[in-house]
Amino acid sequence: MIINNFVRINALMIKGYIFSGLFSLLMLISMSSFAQTAQDEKNFQQCKACHNIDGAKLIGPNLKGISEKRDEAWLIKFIQNSQEMIQNGDELAVQVYNENNKIPMPSQNFTDEEVRGLLLYIEGGGVLPESEAVAQAAVDTEEQQANKLNVAADAELLLVKMKRDGMRNMSYVFIIMVILIVVSLFDLAVFHIVKARWIHYIIVLTAIVVISEIIFVDATSLGRQQYYQPDQPVWFSHKVHAGQNQIDCRYCHFTVDRSMSAGIPPVETCLNCHNQVKEGPITGTKEIEKIYASIENNKPIEWVKVYNLPDHVYFNHAQHVNVGKLDCAQCHGEVKEMDEIIQIPDLSMGWCIECHRTEDVQFATNKFYDQYKELHQKLKDGEISNVTVQNIGGDECAKCHY
Ligand code: HEC
Ligand code: HEC
Ligand code: HEC
Ligand code: HEC
Ligand code: HEC
Ligand code: HEC
Repeated sequence: MIINNFVRINALMIKGYIFSGLFSLLMLISMSSFAQTAQDEKNFQQCKACHNIDGAKLIGPNLKGISEKRDEAWLIKFIQNSQEMIQNGDELAVQVYNENNKIPMPSQNFTDEEVRGLLLYIEGGGVLPESEAVAQAAVDTEEQQANKLNVAADAELLLVKMKRDGMRNMSYVFIIMVILIVVSLFDLAVFHIVKARWIHYIIVLTAIVVISEIIFVDATSLGRQQYYQPDQPVWFSHKVHAGQNQIDCRYCHFTVDRSMSAGIPPVETCLNCHNQVKEGPITGTKEIEKIYASIENNKPIEWVKVYNLPDHVYFNHAQHVNVGKLDCAQCHGEVKEMDEIIQIPDLSMGWCIECHRTEDVQFATNKFYDQYKELHQKLKDGEISNVTVQNIGGDECAKCHY
């Protein structure tokens, strides 16, 4: 314990958060009470949606005194991946799981050291010692930086929406052009309000050019729906869930790593949390009630699909996310910032191919690629420096077309 604290404190000093002289003095006075750091407080944000340290039980049990109740090694394993323990039949884990209505706790990507920090933070009742105020200030600037990133993501989304509105405006332009032609021709033939004929010709010609352009763009996009953002039956916000409450994408889209489809969660998944969370900050009880109605009437929520590929195209999530180690955001944009999902890429063939030409496969670490002996040799000889998806045949027609 003491050695651990020492390491943690030293790390802080290196970061320059705290004046070292003052700090060594404090260290001498008391080792343990200065263990939890601002970083731990930040990490605990990921637990807050489901756990109180004091007060009412939320989705998961109250964590007060948990370190006395349970063994440290057990807690570390449980917090990192409780479902694995439950599946392996750890008796205590199964018992805790059953006592909590079998609500799975999402696995958390923390190192042992980070979990120890979290446990110390929980032991301390969820308050930081005063000396940490300095460190907190440093974290705050980190947060400001994160906010800056958010602002950038927001700006990007705004741009996307402007483009979408631009596309909607195209249909108004189309109608206006048709009206211009009709009015102009009528005037030419019947009313003779504008005397000069060349004005009519220019108007009609321009309108025809614009109309052809719109038809051309429309035809080449072949019913694609970039920036598609349909209304959904429940106002479900990814910003509230994946953003503010930091719920892992895989908690809801739980097939994404092992199957072709990412899947939309069944309403039972919503109930895991919403049998406790009955009110939201934006829509109050109005939207959450639809979850209960769906369960009562035994009628699934009919979500409108946003991303649609034509039937002749084969696309596999596991291949991209699990094997290829791509991030959801590379294809779906900053979902964490979206109240409502909007389709970011145009899902054209060019979009797939473009990435396959530039993106590397996990060549060194994936045993499957051992069969590409020639490419391995070329890498070794320095003839090539990387292996893209295209190099392994990612632009062959049959790979993507049935
Ligand atoms: C989505 C909700 C959710 C989140 C987020 C969450 N937990 Fe849990 N947690 C649960 C539930 C539910 C249980 C009860 C056990 C079970 O059902 O698997 C639990 C159980 C636990 C337990 C065991 C309690 C006992 O009595 O042994 C600990 C410790 C714990 N959580 C810590 C954490 C920490 C630390 C975090 C943040 C890093 C966290 N949890 C995030 C829902 C959550
Ligand atoms: C390489 C690009 C790519 C990546 C990376 C990717 N997706 Fe997708 N996603 C797609 C495409 C393309 C579709 C449309 C599939 C279709 O219509 O068959 C889609 C569809 C979906 C759908 C709708 C349901 C379905 O499976 O058709 C969900 C939900 C989804 N993705 C979630 C995710 C999540 C969560 C991640 C990250 C863990 C992710 N996606 C990563 C390209 C991607
Ligand atoms: C892992 C826990 C969890 C799951 C699963 C979950 N939610 Fe939520 N949901 C929350 C939390 C936490 C809030 C925010 C409550 C708050 O901030 O007061 C919330 C808020 C909401 C709100 C209100 C939003 C607002 O701001 O007014 C709606 C509607 C909602 N959820 C619908 C759903 C639906 C539908 C599902 C299933 C597809 C679902 N939730 C699954 C935890 C969850
Ligand atoms: C609490 C559950 C929950 C979490 C967490 C969650 N999603 Fe979703 N997701 C849904 C639901 C429900 C829908 C269907 C309604 C909609 O389109 O908004 C959906 C829809 C989607 C779609 C559109 C699917 C389509 O084509 O109709 C994408 C893409 C997506 N999610 C990606 C993500 C990514 C990326 C994350 C993590 C950053 C994530 N989701 C986290 C519940 C969740
Ligand atoms: C953001 C980059 C990206 C986009 C966009 C993308 N892919 Fe991929 N794709 C990859 C990567 C990386 C791999 C290689 C994964 C691996 O390591 O095996 C891959 C592999 C594949 C494979 C397997 C190729 C093989 O030789 O085994 C298919 C099929 C495929 N993608 C289809 C598609 C389709 C269809 C689309 C468009 C709807 C698409 N991809 C869009 C990055 C992308
Ligand atoms: C990386 C995946 C991928 C590869 C490789 C690929 N395609 Fe496609 N292809 C697509 C996608 C995605 C679409 C759907 C585009 C859309 O909806 O506009 C498509 C659409 C098409 C269409 C329908 C017309 C169109 O433009 O939408 C034809 C024809 C076609 N592909 C032929 C081919 C041929 C021939 C090859 C081999 C030279 C090939 N494709 C290789 C992904 C791929």
